[in-house]
Amino acid sequence: MEMELKPLLQSDWIQGYCDENDEKVLIYEYLSKGSLDRYLNDTSLTWVKRLNICIDVARALDFLHGGVGKQAKVIHRDIKTENILLKNDWKAKLADFGLSLICSINQETDYIIDHACGTRGYVDPLYRQSGFLTIESDIYSFGVVLFEILCGRSTFAIHKHEGHYLPDFIKNKFEEGKHAEVVLNKSRNKSCRNR
Ligand SMILES: Nc1ncnc2c1ncn2[C@@H]1O[C@H](COP(=O)(O)OP(=O)(O)O)[C@@H](O)[C@H]1O
Ligand SMILES: [Mg+2]
Repeated sequence: MEMELKPLLQSDWIQGYCDENDEKVLIYEYLSKGSLDRYLNDTSLTWVKRLNICIDVARALDFLHGGVGKQAKVIHRDIKTENILLKNDWKAKLADFGLSLICSINQETDYIIDHACGTRGYVDPLYRQSGFLTIESDIYSFGVVLFEILCGRSTFAIHKHEGHYLPDFIKNKFEEGKHAEVVLNKSRNKSCRNR
């Protein structure tokens, strides 16, 4: 486990770990604001803060996918707003590496055949149907997160009210030419004042 986690430990991603008697524990820094899902509809999360969170998560994914420490790349497999934690200053960090897969960087193929896992509403349908896991599977889930940040509603809330998850909701709205309806209302009117 130490060899596998070494790149993440070096990068300060994980503070420590325990691997004793089949007990595997990862230790993260305590991030006082908790997870992003709690703030989706919160107007204190301004457009600038929302954008910075998107950038933080994009950088984190680029780091994981690009070959952490040039030794192994990491596919997170459970990208969602519940697994994005916020520091007191709104800096975002990816968390919950419980489902992550660490693959050797010199692997010849760019996919892994896998039993599809992750969270409904976020999982890449291609991966769910075929079992072919690639770094793009994380990117699909990241896309859902980006839309949640833009809409101010979770993919679950959309599913509850519309009967389908966020990607289909967005697709339908675009096809109907109702682009503006997907944007969080409260912030839409305040975008200039919130800078
Ligand atoms: N380091 C942390 N700092 C602050 N809150 C945390 C931290 N780790 C987890 N949490 C809170 O606990 C929730 C569940 O943690 P997570 O690691 O995602 O475990 P699970 O496997 O149950 O999803 C997160 O969505 C977040 O709200
Ligand atoms: Mg989690």
